[in-house]
Amino acid sequence: MRYWGLALTSLFVSGVAAHSGPYKHVFFVSIDGFHGSDVQHYVSKRPHSTMARLLATGYEYTNAYTSAPSDSFPGTINQMTGASPAHTGVWYDDIYDRTFYPPGSNCTGPAGAEVEYAENCDFNSTLLFSGGIDVKNLPRKIVDGKCRSIFPHQRLLVNTWLEIVTKYGGTTCYGDKHPTYEIVSGPSGKGLTSGYFPEIQAIPVTVNATIAYDELHVNAFLDWIDGKVPVNSTGDRLKETPTAFGGNFQAVSVAQKTAGYVNGSLDFTPDLFRATDFVDGSIKKVVDKLIQKKIYDDTLILICSKHGQAPINPNFYGKIDPALVQNTTGVDVLFMTADDIALIFLKHHGDTETAVRNLEKARDALKIYDIIYGRRLIEDGFGDPLSNPAVPDIIVRPIQGIIYTTSTAKIAEHGGLSDDDRHVACFVSNPKLKKTQFTDPVSTKQVAPTILRALGLDEGELQGVQLEHTQVLQGF
Ligand SMILES: *[C@@H]1O[C@H](CO)[C@@H](O)[C@H](O)[C@H]1NC(C)=O
Ligand SMILES: *[C@@H]1O[C@H](CO)[C@@H](O)[C@H](O)[C@H]1NC(C)=O
Ligand SMILES: *[C@@H]1O[C@H](CO)[C@@H](O)[C@H](O)[C@H]1NC(C)=O
Ligand SMILES: *[C@@H]1O[C@H](CO)[C@@H](O)[C@H](O)[C@H]1NC(C)=O
Ligand SMILES: *[C@@H]1O[C@H](CO)[C@@H](O)[C@H](O)[C@H]1NC(C)=O
Ligand SMILES: *[C@@H]1O[C@H](CO)[C@@H](O)[C@H](O)[C@H]1NC(C)=O
Repeated sequence: MRYWGLALTSLFVSGVAAHSGPYKHVFFVSIDGFHGSDVQHYVSKRPHSTMARLLATGYEYTNAYTSAPSDSFPGTINQMTGASPAHTGVWYDDIYDRTFYPPGSNCTGPAGAEVEYAENCDFNSTLLFSGGIDVKNLPRKIVDGKCRSIFPHQRLLVNTWLEIVTKYGGTTCYGDKHPTYEIVSGPSGKGLTSGYFPEIQAIPVTVNATIAYDELHVNAFLDWIDGKVPVNSTGDRLKETPTAFGGNFQAVSVAQKTAGYVNGSLDFTPDLFRATDFVDGSIKKVVDKLIQKKIYDDTLILICSKHGQAPINPNFYGKIDPALVQNTTGVDVLFMTADDIALIFLKHHGDTETAVRNLEKARDALKIYDIIYGRRLIEDGFGDPLSNPAVPDIIVRPIQGIIYTTSTAKIAEHGGLSDDDRHVACFVSNPKLKKTQFTDPVSTKQVAPTILRALGLDEGELQGVQLEHTQVLQGF
């Protein structure tokens, strides 16, 4: 549904020149780790919460799934591009590409290198304001005959909705956990008016420290509404409230990894409640400020998590040494990323059948649920490792709750293909909307065209939308 009447009347007041839609602003947030089931659970326990209030005039997508794999980077990129890893090139925060070379290299010798866009790229990741991305730490690639360092946004193969917003004169602000989240500015590098990326690696992995960290993002949201950018932002200054602004919360994710849920139920432990109450109170601050600025009615609030966390039920948790998975293949492995999934790049594609046969024999020991390779990679939309240098040869999906790790510090993880990993919170709110629950399965990649349509821009300008025929969310 499009509101052309509104578009005409608000033509000259919106930040998006001559392209006004039903909303002048979008506030978009990922509560990292927050599941679809957590929304109803939280609201039932906290009927007077801000989330409950937002849902009273909101559309809730009760069957929303984030990207597969569901690590933070692909989960974010899903929402920014409208496309899945097969078309974005971004599979995981720490991954491999057969056409890249290591940081500091001269792109000589055989191609193929780890491509990690996380705290490793910073000048100094022990500092909250880490100095941003040090070019020396970036992976390299031969482009136009030259060996070049590749910034995260240059890695991305399709454009982002933020690029469309800025192209039509709008402004965008975004905050996330590492400076490498500049990736959202898209291949042109022009999608992000201002970014705010304090380094999460610099703080202890505790709920309290993470709440203090998230408060930096909340203060950034409030500054942006005031048309200001916080100290230590990247990019340009603002003149007024940005067209689209948002970011993520980490506190829930850390509470899930360290405390989690009550055994055998969807109930939150006290730490998880405290983290969620903090997030809810923070969203209230944004809502109150939008009301105070008299732009609440013109702002679409969109809350969709970039990833879930598995397992919800602590009883399903188990861990297995990732080295065992790699060794079991019995063939030369170039690179393997392991969390609650294992993505395996082989030295020789031709070894795939052998590696899979060996893994099959160890199905019980490695608690394997599924092995995806060969034709199924293509049929299930992951892409073809023979032609796409970013696609792993083998995806090992363990039983839900199993983590391929040696860490003893966590009881849950994300990144994999299980329901608890991918079935995430997703809802939108505005006082004009009639409370509705949409129960059909949706993908969080639909967020990208939805935001553009909400702002009166053409979602068809997104390459990911064209490639994957990504639809707007129901109700828009
Ligand atoms: C790359 O090339 C430069 C200039 O030719 C040289 O000084 C440097 O040692 C080379 N580095 C590597 C890692 O090969
Ligand atoms: C990073 O910052 C810490 C804290 O200030 C400092 O001790 C350390 O030497 C720095 N590391 C580098 C490589 O500059
Ligand atoms: C900005 O970053 C510098 C380090 O680069 C830090 O010392 C300073 O405290 C930061 N200021 C604020 C207000 O975050
Ligand atoms: C975390 O913060 C809460 C509330 O501010 C406090 O009661 C609690 O003692 C703190 N926990 C730790 C481990 O510091
Ligand atoms: C969860 O509860 C079950 C049944 O009461 C019990 O067997 C199991 O040990 C508990 N698991 C954890 C992780 O506490
Ligand atoms: C994997 O193989 C390496 C090399 O043979 C060996 O050193 C290591 O102990 C093995 N790890 C496991 C967990 O089997």
